[in-house]
Amino acid sequence: MRIPFIAGNWKMFKTVHEAVVFVKELKSVVKDVADVEIVVAPPFTAVHAVAEAARNSNIGVAAQDLYWEREGAFTGEVSAPMIKEAGAEYVIIGHSERRRLFGETDATVNRKIVAAIGANLASIVCVGESLEERERDETLAVLDRQIKDGLDRLTAEQVADLVIAYEPVWAIGTGRNATAAQAGEAHAHIRTRLRQWFGGDAADHCHVIYGGSVKPDNIRELIAEPDVDGALVGGASLDVRGFGDIVNKSRQAAV
Ligand code: 13P
Repeated sequence: MRIPFIAGNWKMFKTVHEAVVFVKELKSVVKDVADVEIVVAPPFTAVHAVAEAARNSNIGVAAQDLYWEREGAFTGEVSAPMIKEAGAEYVIIGHSERRRLFGETDATVNRKIVAAIGANLASIVCVGESLEERERDETLAVLDRQIKDGLDRLTAEQVADLVIAYEPVWAIGTGRNATAAQAGEAHAHIRTRLRQWFGGDAADHCHVIYGGSVKPDNIRELIAEPDVDGALVGGASLDVRGFGDIVNKSRQAAV
């Protein structure tokens, strides 16, 4: 019922030119894939060009952040309607790098999700514990807080359309992915909370994807976990063959 969702978060990599070259090649690599939702998230500067290059293909486009006001004197910020008009259908919200380096909180995550919904953008909401929190055995409590406060006052229908990315901070960019069992436990917990707090339809419909050192050689075992619906891929999404490989492997593993 939930087809695999594989998104590449390019972070602060790729010029407009490099991004367009990548998408043109990716289009041919994944042209026959109809059973995976494929998304790339370029930097703001390349969102429009990538959306144009991906037009009429099976590749969707995400921005990596937004600001919740529609417009105004907010130097450096980009609003949800601007992102939508540039051609994106998705936006990443609350990535751990934004939480850690740019002061994002569950409250700002909540405001951003509401703004995305208002502009008809689907949110990819990132949650996940730090290494210290895992070692203190606080993982599930951290996820509870991030979900409860981040998704505060959303309706069941709105939650159904979200993508939640479980990205343990200690697994991001470290080459040390969560084991399938660790990811499976966290994802099952997230699904249980969605069911308790937003109902069965929201829990069944919402994609819960894993991020943190996903590579072509570990995607199969991760996505084989029943509650792992896909991946948010950082470093390995910058290489078109590697990313295409992850898409293809998620497809075979999920059936
Ligand atoms: P890596 O795949 O490079 O660990 O990054 C994961 C991530 O942060 C995706 O948003």
